[in-house]
Amino acid sequence: MVCRALIGLCALLLCSVSTRTGTAAFDTPAAGEIKIGGERRVSFNEGWRFFKGEAEGAEQPEFADASWRALDLPHDWAIEGPFDPKINPHCGALPYFGTGWYRKHFTLAESARGRFFSIEFDGAMANSQVWLNGRELGGRPYGYIGFSFDLTPHLRFGGQGNVLAVRLTPEDQSSRWYPGAGIYRNVWLDITDAVQVARWGTYITTPEVSADKAAVSIRTEVRNRRSEPARITLETVILDANGKEAGRVTVTPTIPAGGQQAVDGRIEIVRPHRWDIVDPYLYRAVSTIRDGRGVLDRYVTPFGIRSIEFDKGKGFLLNGRHLKMQGVCMHHDLGALGTAVNRRATERQLQIMKGLGVNAIRTSHNPPSPELLEFCDRLGLLVMDEAFDMWQRPKVRNGHGKYFDQWGETDLRDMIRRDRNHPSIVLWSIGNEILEQSSPEGWKIARRLTDICHEEDRTRPVTAGFNQSTNAIKNQLADQVDIPGFNYKPNEYAQILKDHPNWTIVGAETSSCVSSRGVYHLPIEKYEKHPSLQLTSYDIIAPSWAYLPDAELDVQQRMPNVLGEFVWTGFDYIGEPTPYFNNRAANETDWPSRSSYFGIVDLAGFPKDRYYLYKSVWTTEPMVHILPHWNWAGREGQLIPIMAYTNCDEVEVFLNGKSLGRKARGSEPVDLPVGPNVSKNLRFSSRFRLLWQVAYEPGTLQAVGYRGGKPVASKEVRTAGPAASISMVTDRMAIAADGADLSFVTVRIEDKDHNLVPAADNLVQFSIEGAGKIAAVDNGNPASTESFQSDQRKAFSGMCLLIVRSLRGQTGRIRITASSAGLASARTEVASR
Ligand code: GAL
Repeated sequence: MVCRALIGLCALLLCSVSTRTGTAAFDTPAAGEIKIGGERRVSFNEGWRFFKGEAEGAEQPEFADASWRALDLPHDWAIEGPFDPKINPHCGALPYFGTGWYRKHFTLAESARGRFFSIEFDGAMANSQVWLNGRELGGRPYGYIGFSFDLTPHLRFGGQGNVLAVRLTPEDQSSRWYPGAGIYRNVWLDITDAVQVARWGTYITTPEVSADKAAVSIRTEVRNRRSEPARITLETVILDANGKEAGRVTVTPTIPAGGQQAVDGRIEIVRPHRWDIVDPYLYRAVSTIRDGRGVLDRYVTPFGIRSIEFDKGKGFLLNGRHLKMQGVCMHHDLGALGTAVNRRATERQLQIMKGLGVNAIRTSHNPPSPELLEFCDRLGLLVMDEAFDMWQRPKVRNGHGKYFDQWGETDLRDMIRRDRNHPSIVLWSIGNEILEQSSPEGWKIARRLTDICHEEDRTRPVTAGFNQSTNAIKNQLADQVDIPGFNYKPNEYAQILKDHPNWTIVGAETSSCVSSRGVYHLPIEKYEKHPSLQLTSYDIIAPSWAYLPDAELDVQQRMPNVLGEFVWTGFDYIGEPTPYFNNRAANETDWPSRSSYFGIVDLAGFPKDRYYLYKSVWTTEPMVHILPHWNWAGREGQLIPIMAYTNCDEVEVFLNGKSLGRKARGSEPVDLPVGPNVSKNLRFSSRFRLLWQVAYEPGTLQAVGYRGGKPVASKEVRTAGPAASISMVTDRMAIAADGADLSFVTVRIEDKDHNLVPAADNLVQFSIEGAGKIAAVDNGNPASTESFQSDQRKAFSGMCLLIVRSLRGQTGRIRITASSAGLASARTEVASR
């Protein structure tokens, strides 16, 4: 979480970056010089060259890369496609393996000599090798972990050219989902004096927290790269959210020559403003190192003051208050944008999750981007930070298991050191469904990894997601972690806790219900797959190991001592299109399913019906939702099952103004009628779902929710006529002109009265003028092979998404037009500032 701020040095450091397009002669003076200014950390994302494929000798500085593509990072080469049936659909059927090269030319002014430079990659997919000016610096197999190299000894100053070269070789069969490919996270240049706060060099804990006061303990690792001891003053000032000083501590250590030393300080804060999910208040600790000559380093660490407790009787307590974890698992892709990290896309995903009452995120199954954690801190979301999907035993041939013995410990320590100041993180997870569960020796690795977590951070417990509960318990893996996590085992929680009365447990992964937004198949069938490659949105389909949301919600409500659940998944993600391609023999008929159906929202971020099912349990503001849509031409007079999700006491349904009866939520069963191929009805509790059987007639179907007999919420669906026009709604009217900020535009196909046409699949053409460009398009259809990087998209269930990106440095209006044959077009604008 380390955020480095301006350092108070007077000397301005000049750095220039070549954006050359001609021949890449090594010593050609660079064009387009940029100033670094007085910052400790500067973005190193701009002005790279990229080549997809092997490039013999490209690590050498004089290598001619002028014909390579010019781009800025972060970059995911695989999202560019095309979808290819020969590539494993479980990895998204996108070209995520092979070799890719990135090169960046830059120069440094003579005045920069004597400073210390390191390069910080937040993550690169995968098997990176890095060279500076032809010297190999090292590499990192795991694509999800950040890595850093000291550039100082190999740099050239005084305007001479420097070339940083990165080779990536992500492998086929290396992931169970879409991993992306390329330098997909941010890259930073870290510039320091010889005496500096070390990388991830602050560790802030709050050993005592009450409403009256908090003790903040700060350990600062100070590094001295001089050849003589450094007598320094280390001053740490805590600033509140308004920048007002809340406390300070000053120490005067001597840091040995060429050494690193931990310096401890403690600050008391009276009446602290505590971090909470409803009020995610952040402080900043500003660490300043000085010696007789002035300021040597300034380093800023955002942190929060909060207490967490895991109580075997009471469950999870945040600042003393019981909270049930209403969590979701999230993979790292950002839908149509692929895995290339983007701040706004990350924030939007989390905001959408908060909208349905989610209060916790599990970073399945790998260290997330630093930006995700930053937004969890800011938005008030708890985090289970997870390290691995496998240890030694591979789940896929070229998975991280190959590198685990050599790198596993470093990967885990790095994750914790990078992340341990985030108030949002409340659990470390050492792994998901690790195959060593079935090994009598597996506990030894679990012990070792738990010990590493404890060594790096004593303030949070360690968990893991066990799916083989019997094995994990028998082989004593569950005993090694602080909080055993169980995947897909709501029916075993009671027995597990009876057998292990001292355990506190969590539903680390739950449900795995599958559905396609806006798709309903009648009569209701409990099929495994549907030939349309879509799955009904009545929320009744789940693969063999999985179950419907209701089952977990029910157990969680009855067992407050279980910490909560993490639903698989919050968003649909690219890859793992279960149940399609589950049976290898069925491959051809399953094509082109290429992304998941597990999401509570689809890949574009549009809510599925399940969004409202969870919302009805996880939020209290009165709401009611009704399904399916009301366009059933040809079924006039036939009974259509109507389902309502609500947190009200009762719901009344009206068809064309006529009441079809009021139903109360309770505990009595609701039987969902099914088609002739299913032997018995599907049974639900009326606590979670209310049901009506309604003879279809076109018009308006309305659900009204009542509390204490008074109407407090309502929702309606109307029979739509033929598609007549397009509508566009932007999520933000103004974005930053930084070349990264985004506006997400929801596009709907409507009839003449602005009703959504629920089955519309019209092809929508986009054009953009002014200060923006198209970043991506999507429609949430998991079985579409249309490119995400296009200026057109078919609607799916009446909707599609346009993602607009600002242009760096170009302010003004972004004018967007959407058109489609036979429909009235739509226009909208976004301001870029
Ligand atoms: C779990 C696994 C997840 C995902 C999920 C699908 O067993 O941990 O990564 O594959 O199944 O239901």
